[in-house]
Amino acid sequence: MVATAHSAPSTTPISITLRVWRQAGPTQPGRFVEYPAKDLNPNMSFLEMLDVVNDELERKGEDAIAFAHDCREGICGTCSLVINGKPHGPHKGVASCQTYMRSFANGDVIVVEPFRAKPFPVIKDLVTDRSAFDAIQQAGGFVTVRAGSACDANAIPVPKDDADLAMDAAQCIGCGACVAACKNASAMLFVSAKVSHLGLLPQGQAERDSRVLNMVAKMDELGFGNCTNQYECSAACPKLISHDFIARMNRDYIGASFRQAFKPKSNSTAGGA
Ligand code: SF4
Ligand code: FES
Repeated sequence: MVATAHSAPSTTPISITLRVWRQAGPTQPGRFVEYPAKDLNPNMSFLEMLDVVNDELERKGEDAIAFAHDCREGICGTCSLVINGKPHGPHKGVASCQTYMRSFANGDVIVVEPFRAKPFPVIKDLVTDRSAFDAIQQAGGFVTVRAGSACDANAIPVPKDDADLAMDAAQCIGCGACVAACKNASAMLFVSAKVSHLGLLPQGQAERDSRVLNMVAKMDELGFGNCTNQYECSAACPKLISHDFIARMNRDYIGASFRQAFKPKSNSTAGGA
């Protein structure tokens, strides 16, 4: 039986075989290499297990397995691992760093790979370059108005349903699992979460059209594929972002495209010619 992400701690040590992707650099060929990991505390996280394996490799003078990590508590989106074929591993709504070894059985062979997507090239071993997401975010994932400080947040009333939906979208941690899970390497779940988060709030209205047009254009330019409604993205998402946001983004995009096409040209010479 596969344990759930939150199943009760166990005290029985387990031993597994790690079959891990090793690739020395972006242009080098990669291959799977097996490492035994014995007598593991089942309550250690998956990343702690990699730490243990790396300690052993370093003791033997071998190159440690490179993997990306930062917060180790499911909020930064850095831990980009495909575990047994699934981005972020076996549990729904759980990041790799919050997956515990008690999720696996004694004697299991666990296959670990980097996210596989053309816009996320491998840097080394399990580390991929996901700066394409930064570029999409920089294309429009912000507001340029002064939003004030925390105490100003309540000055503009926001309907509860909109606020809730905006916060659902804001859960996206930019991990890229949606891209890795998609056969088209589509980034539409990520982009739609960012577009919807700001597009649902009053502060995001002024740039709503330019935001969706520019972010989608950047996504296409960087080689991410289109959505063909397989919903693998939302199934893999550690924050359970709904694919309904993709439909919302498409509606925004169509509206923004029409408004841009029929926008009256300004005769303003503001600035003082
Ligand atoms: S939508 Fe989900 S899977 Fe995609 S980047 Fe955001 S948190 Fe990660
Ligand atoms: S290390 Fe931050 S989400 Fe996993």
